[in-house]
Amino acid sequence: MANLTSSSRSAADIDADAIVLALAKDGDGVALTNGHGLSRRTVNHLKAVIAELELKGRPGEVTTLAAVPEVKAPRVVLTGAGELGGRPDSTTRENLRQAVGAAVRGLDKKQKIAVVVPGASTELVAAVAEGAALGAYAPPKAGAANTETVQTVSILGPTDGPARKAVKRAGAIGAAVAYARDLVNQPPNLLYPESFVASLAERVKGTKVKLKSLDLKQLRAGGFGGIVGVGQGSVNEPRLAVLTYAPSRPKATLAFVGKGITFDSGGLCLKPPAGMSTMKSDMAGAAAVAAAVLAIAELGLPVAVTGYLGIAENMPSGSAQRPSDVVTMRGGKTVEILDTDAEGRMVLADCIALAAESKPEAIVDVATLTGAQVIALADTAAVMANTDGFRGRVVDTAGIMGEAVWPMPLPAELRPALDSQNADIAHKGGREGGMLTAGIFLGEFVPEGVAWSHIDIAGPSFNEKGARGYTPKGGTGFGVRTLVGLAESYL
Ligand code: BES
Ligand code: MN
Ligand code: ZN
Repeated sequence: MANLTSSSRSAADIDADAIVLALAKDGDGVALTNGHGLSRRTVNHLKAVIAELELKGRPGEVTTLAAVPEVKAPRVVLTGAGELGGRPDSTTRENLRQAVGAAVRGLDKKQKIAVVVPGASTELVAAVAEGAALGAYAPPKAGAANTETVQTVSILGPTDGPARKAVKRAGAIGAAVAYARDLVNQPPNLLYPESFVASLAERVKGTKVKLKSLDLKQLRAGGFGGIVGVGQGSVNEPRLAVLTYAPSRPKATLAFVGKGITFDSGGLCLKPPAGMSTMKSDMAGAAAVAAAVLAIAELGLPVAVTGYLGIAENMPSGSAQRPSDVVTMRGGKTVEILDTDAEGRMVLADCIALAAESKPEAIVDVATLTGAQVIALADTAAVMANTDGFRGRVVDTAGIMGEAVWPMPLPAELRPALDSQNADIAHKGGREGGMLTAGIFLGEFVPEGVAWSHIDIAGPSFNEKGARGYTPKGGTGFGVRTLVGLAESYL
């Protein structure tokens, strides 16, 4: 992971391979934000270049200049950050994250870079540092160790206590998001339930997070019919991983639940080839949960969090689950399987039931759950919850952290769609409202009085288009920041 540090050095003489400068839109013109030690001659040169190239400071506009007078670094990258005036609100901060992220992402093979903070507030330091940390990611080749494009990033700006803390926090969040992206990007022949747990075991070493995992025998004995049923068609046996971070005297106790389908073929209700092409990413929810628990522990937040990861491979075979099977879930409810491709909710429901047994204040599940979510909201996520208050908390947190989500309802009118003649409940309704009935199904496993939210990240978890802003192609790590922010919201 890129190593982030705060520095009060001048942008003119810092020893770096590239300097990143944010350009703000200023009415019709463009403001060269806080030069941070650049000489008058340098600033005049940059102004002339900006005029000549007709730069507008618009988001996404990244321009690399070489040999800028009186700047020691060989390259200066100008990156459009949109409007930056006034007190930075969440839109301004996100624009800045995306601008810095886009610039840093483009700096292939640079070892050392410096980014100028366009102002003096801690919020701007945080946004710049987060953008740099998120943009510094490069996917490793399968099986190889990760190598970031950028090794060190100096954040040139205030270096007081809060600024240093913001930079440190950004580094921890960036490392967690990179881990989630790496997990998602792993090919599914290398990342299967057992190897997923092995990666977690490696990762928790030397941290304050404890890992427990249940194998097939233990899952059977524990009554986890959902996970066992989904996993029974694969030669790779399922697992349930529990990651616990338990600081003393916590201000809240939270449970995070993640869908960890290492490959979703659809099972006997086989997907068509096109529908399967991105299904190695069907464990992105579990990856986000694991990464978030690790980040929360690294930041030492006084909030107890436990992550429950339901990990299985959904495959067709002679031993696979059938449509019409009735399975008994953790806690005793029976569920009628109607479509073996609606597998995520089965592993999640078992995990939610288990999480509820320790009576947390809130349960949040994160899952690549429905194609309907992608159709409805593209690469923004959907947030559902059992109370308006808790849904608001999750939506607001996502906004602060810079993850795009929309509130969605769980209409009581749709509950009858899950009625079953053969079991307590069916696991799916019809096509209409498919994202919502999936949420309603999960809600049936949440006990009265426990706040619960379901975040469907089917769209934003995997970027099939080109890289943009701080988001790479492939796994995005979506969800990690909202979960970390949620823990922070209890401080
Ligand atoms: N993993 C898929 C959902 C998905 C689709 C995620 C596209 C990311 C991109 C999930 O397991 C699934 O197959 N859902 C079905 C449910 C249906 C059978 C009720 C779907 O959405 O089609
Ligand atoms: Mn499926
Ligand atoms: Zn799935």
